[in-house]
Amino acid sequence: MPGTLRPYALTCEHRVTPLGLDEPRPRLSWKLADARRGQRQSAYRLQVAVEEGTNVFDSGVVASSDTLDVVPVGVTLAAATRYFWTVTVWDADGEEGETASSWFETGLMRPEGWGDAVWIEHDPETAPQAAPPAADPLPLPERLASSSPARLMRKVVTLRATPAKARLYVTARGLYRMSINGNRVGADELTPGWTDYRHRVLYQTYDVTAALSVGPHVLGALLADGWWSGYLGFDPRRPAEHYGTRPQLIARLVVTYGDGSTETVVTDSSWRETTGHVLHSDLVMGEMHDARREPEGWDRAATFDDAEWSPVRVADHDHHTLLGALDEPVRVTETVEPVGVTRRADDRVILDLGQNLVGRMRLTVRDAAPGTRLTLRHAEVLGDDGELYTANLRSAEATDLYVTAGRPVETFEPVFTVHGFRYAEVTGHADVTAVALVMHSDMPTVGEFECSDPDVNRLWSNIRWGQRGNFVSVPTDCPQRDERLGWLADTQVFAPTACYNADVQSFFSRWLLDVMDGQHERGAFPDVAPVLDRPALDREGAPAWGDAGVLVPWLLYRVYGDRRTLERCFDSMTRWIDWIAEGNPDRVWSNRVGHNYGDWLQVDAQTPRDVLATAYFARSTDVVADAAETLGHADAALTYRKLATDIRDAFRTAFVADDGTVAGDTQTGYLLALSFGLLPDHLVQPAVDKLASAILRTGNRLTTGFVGVALLCPTLSRHGRDDLAHALLRQSEYPSWLYSVRHGATTIWERWDGYTEHAGFQAPTMNSFNHYALGSVGEWLYARVAGIAQADDSTAFTELLVAPAPGDLCSARARYDSVRGPVTTAWSLDGTRFTLDVSVPPGARATVRLPLPVGAVAGDVRESGVPLEQAPGVTVEDTEEPNVIRCRVGSGDYRFTVPVRGSEREG
Ligand code: BGC
Repeated sequence: MPGTLRPYALTCEHRVTPLGLDEPRPRLSWKLADARRGQRQSAYRLQVAVEEGTNVFDSGVVASSDTLDVVPVGVTLAAATRYFWTVTVWDADGEEGETASSWFETGLMRPEGWGDAVWIEHDPETAPQAAPPAADPLPLPERLASSSPARLMRKVVTLRATPAKARLYVTARGLYRMSINGNRVGADELTPGWTDYRHRVLYQTYDVTAALSVGPHVLGALLADGWWSGYLGFDPRRPAEHYGTRPQLIARLVVTYGDGSTETVVTDSSWRETTGHVLHSDLVMGEMHDARREPEGWDRAATFDDAEWSPVRVADHDHHTLLGALDEPVRVTETVEPVGVTRRADDRVILDLGQNLVGRMRLTVRDAAPGTRLTLRHAEVLGDDGELYTANLRSAEATDLYVTAGRPVETFEPVFTVHGFRYAEVTGHADVTAVALVMHSDMPTVGEFECSDPDVNRLWSNIRWGQRGNFVSVPTDCPQRDERLGWLADTQVFAPTACYNADVQSFFSRWLLDVMDGQHERGAFPDVAPVLDRPALDREGAPAWGDAGVLVPWLLYRVYGDRRTLERCFDSMTRWIDWIAEGNPDRVWSNRVGHNYGDWLQVDAQTPRDVLATAYFARSTDVVADAAETLGHADAALTYRKLATDIRDAFRTAFVADDGTVAGDTQTGYLLALSFGLLPDHLVQPAVDKLASAILRTGNRLTTGFVGVALLCPTLSRHGRDDLAHALLRQSEYPSWLYSVRHGATTIWERWDGYTEHAGFQAPTMNSFNHYALGSVGEWLYARVAGIAQADDSTAFTELLVAPAPGDLCSARARYDSVRGPVTTAWSLDGTRFTLDVSVPPGARATVRLPLPVGAVAGDVRESGVPLEQAPGVTVEDTEEPNVIRCRVGSGDYRFTVPVRGSEREG
């Protein structure tokens, strides 16, 4: 009988059964489950075998609690090979538990693995782009009209037998979708995603065994500009030449027959291509399909006559940027039906999806005459006239067009475009139905939160939707207007919240490669990543923006224990600090500040820019010193710790008065000084008091912008002012989080005043209704309102701090599926008792700080009905904190109850 400790959720490189890994030292991880209290792993045994069952690695029984990032050392992985692995665990008492298995499969591993596959493209010299049909009289939106058609590419392949195994390795400079005999390969969207293509193009690997049999097959590809050569950012040029001028495809199909022999098909000059039915395709502007122009059978029939098609041109055979996908691609994860349909004319309706989302519409059209043109426009909000409000999209046309073939029922869904919208207008035909498809990088959801205030729940939902819609291959500022860039500050302030909502480890560690690729050779991190053009030193490296290059790797280390990413980023992190230090010998960061955006979009409370900059300089330097200690770089640790001390001293001298006033006297100024530890001990309380007065004098309202807002509630809580943090959370007057909620927001707005009762919509030049930065309060909802936090010195959720702060709420609950497994908390206060349920996964321990509400009978605290002192696995600790009981617990489920006299709450 094995013991009950059970490994599950096995991952390789933090992904479940990944296909096409190029990492030579993949990291294997698992979680543990056990209903018993106080469980942990005392030992494990890891075995790795190749497909035929031959063991290539056996760790033997290793006395270790490690469950994360275990590398089978000494194994040299072969390319294109599936490895099976099993892990067996031993529990805290040394009893053998269960065994679990999984697999991963390597990709081509090295550039040479691509063999003679070449990049192929449309040749404008032999095959001029076809003009739209002359018969079409209606004008097109200008920027959609100036975008290119998607290319149709094909190749017929005849197999001599049904394969035992087949893999397709494929990618594009641009965007592609592959098919075999008309059936789409995989379900990924917008592949290969956006990276700094000059350095890295990710490729996808598909198991296409089931799609192939003996005889002829058509390999078909649709190929479009995407991030590679379409409209990008707010640059009016197209092709903007950030990366390239026209899209290119590369593919390698490897077929293995039952007798072990193989056959390979690659992209080469024998492929043929044409302009088909996708007359225009652009990520930002939209897409136009003319169904009449789809060559019948082009992607299905081997006998299709492609004599009119053109040969492709071989662009090059450079394989050095190709790398197996590192994170989950974008996928359609949900379908949303309209909640409202308003008919504005016989052939025009406005659909309300009820949610500002990111993705595209799927239209179904019935009984339309051939050549009927349907126009789909998208908007986040409606104007007072009930029509789509599109001014805030700036030059993004966000328009899709479909010209019908004349079949009784036709379905249209654009392929290579994505819009941010709640409303869609469909014009052109009376009988149309539509649904929205939600798209984002397909990261596992790991967090849930709920409390007794429905407005706060809506806020949490808005934060999550903001994350979903803006994590589309890279973390973007916004998904709708002509921008959609990976702004670094937006990301770093929101990243702690993002980690609670979804498993973002591989998403962020992959994006950090783009951040490092974009780093200037002299050390400045870019403001956006992937960069569009080489960063110019006078424009890059803004305080709190560039700092993401330091803070995000550290966050990944803290949350996931991701030491390898920290190692890989460390050199870049030090170069960033060195760059600033060298330009600011007095340690006040006032030179080399790039654009210096300050506390972006604050409300009438401009924090002096050098206060903000110097505070970040100190913070990032401290983090680099911490990282150096963690990684064992003792000399660097000393150097950066000393530098951090010097910066702190400079900050105090330059900006802190004897009474604790921080220059500017803004909320953000105090937040930075307090949360980055920049004040001498005797000035901490005065600064907390000044922060409190800065909040009170605005009537319990915040004035913080992107930078300050992330620190607001956590800093107040840390300094004993949960009351004020809750007051800000529950505030619904402008400016506040709930102001937007009360005004119908279903995502987080870019600005506190995106829409106000007193001034209407903000200027459309910068007014997105889906920007996650101001949603950085999500972290505090999980960590403090619900009480799921990690202790200060802990990594990978080994030491939890369960310290819920009820404020004047009646209940809250959260679940966070950490790298060690789910942590849950649920507390409630009814008329007679306060209850706190806590669940801790094996391998973790928690300090539980039980807040005693007014009227609590402190002498009668119980755990699962047993007096606290006698509860198994619970150790009560002394605490000087008033109205708090503190105890330590190991893994397991606990229910703490305290009787309460005369407490009735609302809200
Ligand atoms: C973006 C931001 C970004 C900012 C830089 C804006 O256009 O939308 O979110 O951080 O520029 O100041």
